[in-house]
Amino acid sequence: MKYLPAAITAAGLTMTIAALVVWQLGGLGTSAVAQQALSSVSDQQNAQLEQDLSPPPAGVASVAMCTSGEPGERLEFYGKILDENDRPLRAASVIAYSTDVTGLYVPHDAEKTMGRNPRLRAVAVTDENGWYRFTTIKPSPYPDISEPAHIHMHIDAAVHRHMYRTVWFDGDPLITDAKRGSLDAETVIVPLTRREDGVHVFRHDIRLSGS
Ligand SMILES: [Fe+2]
Repeated sequence: MKYLPAAITAAGLTMTIAALVVWQLGGLGTSAVAQQALSSVSDQQNAQLEQDLSPPPAGVASVAMCTSGEPGERLEFYGKILDENDRPLRAASVIAYSTDVTGLYVPHDAEKTMGRNPRLRAVAVTDENGWYRFTTIKPSPYPDISEPAHIHMHIDAAVHRHMYRTVWFDGDPLITDAKRGSLDAETVIVPLTRREDGVHVFRHDIRLSGS
């Protein structure tokens, strides 16, 4: 659990008030206001890393994991790749892949020709400010609903350790209390919000360790 402890325990009462502001305002339309409140109340790097939900500047290139005709609800996600001192890492690679709206990486009848290479996938290279951005569709859980819906990410940057992440979406009914309480170190639960244009969005910043 990456988000709640930072809000409640690390930054203390002021941070909690800021979190309540976010909760009260709700929605991405007010996130900039909420973010200002969050940014101003804590100088703890971890808390800021976990809580900053503001989107990248409009000029940050978006990498598509699927075509615009892919079935499913639109999803956009983005974030910054940072070094161990929270400096933006330029030219880091971010590979992202997920299941499609049927919960499959590859259609059953196409496995022989496509292998296990996920059909919905892409790689982004971070810009000079460490930003990556993907557009895709909201993945569905595996058909046997054994796991919450998720996106996998592999992050690499020169002279830094490889990072692997699995991203779950807060509010997914498949995230049981038991699963939430026993998350492995590679899995994070991100808050998913819906933009005015109907697109689901989340931000996930990732700090790499030096090699
Ligand atoms: Fe998976």
